[in-house]
Amino acid sequence: MVAFTILAGGYGAFVATYLFNSSDSTLSLLGKSPTGPNPSWITTHLMNKSILYAVNEASQGALQTFEVCPGGALSHPIDTTSSGGDSPAFVAALSTGQVAVMNYGSGNGRVIQTMESGLHFDQDEVTPIVTFPRLLSGASHPHMALEHGDEILVPDLGGDTIWRLSKSGSIQGFIPQPKGSGPRHMAIYGQHLFTLHELSSTLTVQLIPPAPNGTSPIISSVSIIPSNQPTNASYAAAEILIPTPTKDFPVPYIYVSNRNVGLQDARGDSIAIFEHVNVGTPEERLVLVKQVFTGLDQIRGMQFGEEVGGEAFLVAGGVAGNAGIVVLKRVGQGRDLEVVARNLEVPTRTTFVWL
Ligand SMILES: *[C@@H]1O[C@H](CO)[C@@H](O)[C@H](O)[C@H]1NC(C)=O
Ligand SMILES: *[C@@H]1O[C@H](CO)[C@@H](O)[C@H](O)[C@H]1NC(C)=O
Repeated sequence: MVAFTILAGGYGAFVATYLFNSSDSTLSLLGKSPTGPNPSWITTHLMNKSILYAVNEASQGALQTFEVCPGGALSHPIDTTSSGGDSPAFVAALSTGQVAVMNYGSGNGRVIQTMESGLHFDQDEVTPIVTFPRLLSGASHPHMALEHGDEILVPDLGGDTIWRLSKSGSIQGFIPQPKGSGPRHMAIYGQHLFTLHELSSTLTVQLIPPAPNGTSPIISSVSIIPSNQPTNASYAAAEILIPTPTKDFPVPYIYVSNRNVGLQDARGDSIAIFEHVNVGTPEERLVLVKQVFTGLDQIRGMQFGEEVGGEAFLVAGGVAGNAGIVVLKRVGQGRDLEVVARNLEVPTRTTFVWL
């Protein structure tokens, strides 16, 4: 038996713990651990999966730490600090031991120092709140933080830009994005920056421009919306993942999630799989490989397993409806996904960690 423990945050005041058994494809709810309000994004310390960081997506936003106990239940909150703003919807743990939290509602964020163990925030180290300038496109809505080299990249959905921050959290420059596109989440593979735009539901690829304020052309831009959409559908792209290639999955396919915030049909939302082909040639582009329907309503978060064997599986949930969470298996070396398990006990979830 190969069993994987999965933590799932969302709206409410708990993180759910699931056990996925890959030999008989069962997915069971082990329990719910109490947290502050709306742990809609969770992540573990990079060096220690026993330490969990969770946002409290509320108007007085906060960030909490928990110890992950054997079996996957959480301790009581060990430490809590202010996120410095309204509605933090994302937290990233950095290789420096810092955590970067972004406040979607108030257009600001913080890069917070932790104590050596990672379980406590360093309250003596006053971290300034970084406030993103309001651009012509509109009010700032930072939606993610992605560490890359000595920078932190922050897509700003309201400002149609990607801010480039130093590790101390100061704005060094930016990478402009197409007007009205609403960059939400990003992934980096090699020298390429893949950006998923919420408002236009597009996936783009460009070379990472030179810091701080270089630009690079968008090489390819594709819609992620399924071609046979339900009537009165309205799409808002959410998550992008490019799992590191392995022997079993040698091609770095790009997995992106759709959110139909309009009327759903029985198929629910799809995860679209893309391939970046002819890299470095005039025919370089993004190609749709497959749209995989999941039965979920608005896939805001999804996550691949990491451990040996776990990388074959993807967990996903919907932020609306009552379709619970699903585990999908990568088939055809990752060119397709197949739902292998579903659990309906908690109707909605938005963020996942594989322990
Ligand atoms: C990971 O964190 C837990 C909880 O604080 C701690 O008990 C454990 O010793 C840490 N492990 C390592 C390798 O630092
Ligand atoms: C780069 O852009 C940032 C943000 O607009 C600005 O503060 C900074 O002065 C620029 N740096 C250079 C070297 O142009």
